[in-house]
Amino acid sequence: MKDLTIQLTSESRVSKVDFHNLPFGKIITDHMFEIDYDGTKWVNPRITPVEKMSIHPMNMALHYGQSIFEGMKASRSKDGTPLLFRPEMHAVRMNASARRMCMPEIPEDIFVEALHAIVGIDQEWIPKIEGSALYIRPFMFATDEMIGVKASDTYKFMIICLPVGPYYPKPIKLLVESQYIRAAKGGVGEAKAAGNYAAALYPSKLAREQGYDQVLWLDAVHHKYAQEVGTMNIFFVFKDEVVTPATSGTILKGITRASTIEILKGNGLNVSEREISIDEIYSKYQAGELLEVFGTGTAALIANVEEIKYEDHIMHLDSSNWQLSTSIKNEINGMRFGTIEDKRGWTVPVKEIAVTA
Ligand code: COI
Repeated sequence: MKDLTIQLTSESRVSKVDFHNLPFGKIITDHMFEIDYDGTKWVNPRITPVEKMSIHPMNMALHYGQSIFEGMKASRSKDGTPLLFRPEMHAVRMNASARRMCMPEIPEDIFVEALHAIVGIDQEWIPKIEGSALYIRPFMFATDEMIGVKASDTYKFMIICLPVGPYYPKPIKLLVESQYIRAAKGGVGEAKAAGNYAAALYPSKLAREQGYDQVLWLDAVHHKYAQEVGTMNIFFVFKDEVVTPATSGTILKGITRASTIEILKGNGLNVSEREISIDEIYSKYQAGELLEVFGTGTAALIANVEEIKYEDHIMHLDSSNWQLSTSIKNEINGMRFGTIEDKRGWTVPVKEIAVTA
């Protein structure tokens, strides 16, 4: 990106941050990356100090929802090198979301170079404390100013970064949602589209009112097969098989999900991506064969589930059985912090760019 311009902040806020007490999603670093799509090409890549943006009241993203995003994390290896986790996979998924939402693709080299540039510049913000990370949020939205349903001609792609603590600081409780649905085949459930998250808010609020942290979504046709949690994909560990719902157009193709499957298979476990009904889950639970349930996601990493409520049935998951989730968490964290060898090449050292202030 030879035309990237960089304007640095005159005063970093990093020294004011309490890295021992990081809420998720509230603190932003000093800089942001921005590039515009002018209808035919991406122009004017720039890194500037974070500031509020002004939005026209006719901005099409506000009215018709062309808005997609990614979530990634940067960490610091034990020798201090900032590391990205599987950046190319995020670029590919961002573009899959863009195609589905009728938005322009962002060239992978721009996406990846921008990540290196912004994380390199704000690397002092990468938390060093276990369980914390620099959360990276690439996003794209429509910028045409028009009322009327059509795809926007112009767009903005941005990257912001936030030092974060754990998304779920403790094991969570899930309520199986049998009335509302998250996604149907042919819809946009596989895209990381902002509207998918909006659609989940009301059922999630109802679940919280009953004391549950999140809903476990079922399929839209039979209201029977487990899908995902909305903030993460889901895994069920049975005595002789680890099952995660197959991604069949309605489930986000999680990068932590894919990494978990690869690690488990590499460790010789019997992992299935298949349909799994809530009745099967409950009957395995009753037979004492459901050992662990955990979610996987960039923000959540590996989130243990301690309780699932399905109609009148409550399943309690005993933490003394949570060995597999703990070992995956340790393996991914070990790679991200450079304490175990990354044989798969998932972590990528940040290439710092020369910055002339
Ligand atoms: C992520 O895991 O990165 C997400 O985008 C999910 C969101 C709940 C933060």
